[in-house]
Amino acid sequence: MAKLIVEGGRKLKGELDVQGAKNSALPVLSATLLCRGESVLHSCPAISDINASIRILRYLGCNASMKGHTIVVDSSNMNRSDIPENLMAEMRSSIVFLGSIISCTGQAKMYFPGGCELGPRPIDLHLSALRKMGVSIDERYGCISCKVKDKLKGAKIVLPFPSVGATENIILAAVLAKGTTVISNAAREPEITDLCEYLTKCGAEIYGAGEGTIIIYGVESLKPAEHTIIPDRIVASTLMACASVTGGDVTLNGIIGSHIDAIVPLFEEAGCVVKIKDGRLKITCPERLKAFKSVRTMPYPGFPTDAQAVMMSVASVAMGTTVFVENIFESRYRHIEDLTRLGANIKVAGKVAVVEGVRKLFGAKVSAKELRGGASLVVAGLSAEGTTEIEGINFLERGYEELEVTLSNLGADIRKV
Ligand code: UD1
Repeated sequence: MAKLIVEGGRKLKGELDVQGAKNSALPVLSATLLCRGESVLHSCPAISDINASIRILRYLGCNASMKGHTIVVDSSNMNRSDIPENLMAEMRSSIVFLGSIISCTGQAKMYFPGGCELGPRPIDLHLSALRKMGVSIDERYGCISCKVKDKLKGAKIVLPFPSVGATENIILAAVLAKGTTVISNAAREPEITDLCEYLTKCGAEIYGAGEGTIIIYGVESLKPAEHTIIPDRIVASTLMACASVTGGDVTLNGIIGSHIDAIVPLFEEAGCVVKIKDGRLKITCPERLKAFKSVRTMPYPGFPTDAQAVMMSVASVAMGTTVFVENIFESRYRHIEDLTRLGANIKVAGKVAVVEGVRKLFGAKVSAKELRGGASLVVAGLSAEGTTEIEGINFLERGYEELEVTLSNLGADIRKV
């Protein structure tokens, strides 16, 4: 089993390009099914979740290949409408193929993604929206079988919660549906806007992406397009966290400032100087960070749940107390046990975690339990005195492209063994 070995205490310095956004590339890959022909996607991150999506596309009959950071998908020969259990198990987000498969073939069969590392992740909102669009759904023995009688039809859908995945599946199902779909309380994440930009290039008629109400006028057909995936705001946040705990000075290229509006103020509160100009972000960090008062995870444009864990590592070595409230997922504090092992002082009660910053963390053996929690252990390891050994790095590889290489290039002492 591969693991990461981190010798803490090296200041990070240097400049790098931020990888493309995983959460944007995944739904866009699903959307390529809707545009029969060859789509070209640039800035796709080379991570295991993207490889899993490519395997799904190939299973469905598409030609899909990745060269560097460009993926070419030719969906002309798509000839299946199911995803087998092993491919579903590889990546929970494979549920984002549901809307596209139903739209293309009038049916779909896939396995329930079930619980995951973040606690139960139901898909009731996805399914009830699809039912409103004319899909009959049978859920039995962990399998979801969907059928459309005639053609998907537009519908008015009010989401009780702005679920990212449900919003994406509805959009994917609606672009070729008969009539108009209106999604109220839609998720507003930048990755949704990116998906809509790709689909619009393909000929879809979508209005209001990035806003609470999205209106989609179904069209007859879509043509394939070339598209560049947006930079990953969570990877950017992780790298800022790495810089901050080492008193570093790092420049990130390819940043969209508005996507990290909820994150930058926390680093500023911690005493870092953050300058963003022309897509370049420079973060200069003090020797000792100050605590930021509170972090409440919220749907976009609020503070992203995906950045909660890495900010908790920052708070762990800051001067003072920080209160975290995790409002999106039930079990998103699994990193705390390992942070505590490194010497962090964190108390949890339900969705609230109180972090009393300590002067120093000390290296130990820890184990990543999920993607972003794993990243928080890397952040903590970089600041800790001594050696931190991180197991479970397959989780990290789902979302970070060669994180150890990126950080080594910035001067960190980190290696994969
Ligand atoms: C996406 C992101 C993930 C991020 C999350 C929240 C991708 C591939 N993943 O996940 O990185 O952490 O958004 O920003 O883009 N819920 C239901 N019923 C549903 C759907 C969701 O109850 O049908 C609940 C979930 O259990 C969770 C909350 O809604 O508590 C948010 O989920 P959602 O926004 O759907 O997240 P994902 O799309 O799974």
